[in-house]
Amino acid sequence: MKIIALVGSLRRDSFNMQLATTMKDRYKDKLSIEVADLRALPYFDQDEEQNPPQVVKDFKTSIAQADGVLIVTPEYNWSVPGVLKNAIDWTSREDKVFIGKPVMVVGATPGAMGTIRAQLHLRDILSSPGIQAKLLPPASNEVLVNFAAQKFDASTGRLVDESTLNFLDAKVNIFIEFIGEVKSLNV
Ligand code: FNR
Repeated sequence: MKIIALVGSLRRDSFNMQLATTMKDRYKDKLSIEVADLRALPYFDQDEEQNPPQVVKDFKTSIAQADGVLIVTPEYNWSVPGVLKNAIDWTSREDKVFIGKPVMVVGATPGAMGTIRAQLHLRDILSSPGIQAKLLPPASNEVLVNFAAQKFDASTGRLVDESTLNFLDAKVNIFIEFIGEVKSLNV
């Protein structure tokens, strides 16, 4: 299954990018995860939505062709980072490539709350008319990695906390099943 990952942090040593990289490696037998380059996207401009820059067209095509989308994001000021919102806004106009697309949301933070407010805002955004992504309820598909500094190995840049990895494994399996279910409903 082909998955596009959107990472909401541009920081060099981002825990969220490390989480995305961990997932790309760990699930490579089940999922082909490609991390999108959100830094390359210009600011959304409604004057350009009908014929956006090629980098935007390519980004939208990569989502359209994916079986699912993985969003890995920090929380900025109790919400979604602008770089992620900007990317999502491009997808919500003209060819609305998120409609019906299975999405899994995960996040990591050095703090205690595990990006919960950002994830809840994101779920609202992903339900808006131009997006209409398909998400499982948080109770069955929510991953909040808190106290990240203790759970990632600074030298390898990978998530190493065993219980978090086991939890993640279970949620990824649920997401894979969900992608299959959504596909079977769409055919
Ligand atoms: C933060 N951080 C943060 N943390 C949190 O739990 N709730 C919040 O509302 C915020 N707000 C916030 C705003 C801004 C502008 C920054 C830069 C940071 C802290 C944030 O979780 C921390 O910097 C993470 O390490 C960012 O994720 P990456 O870059 O490690 O992936």
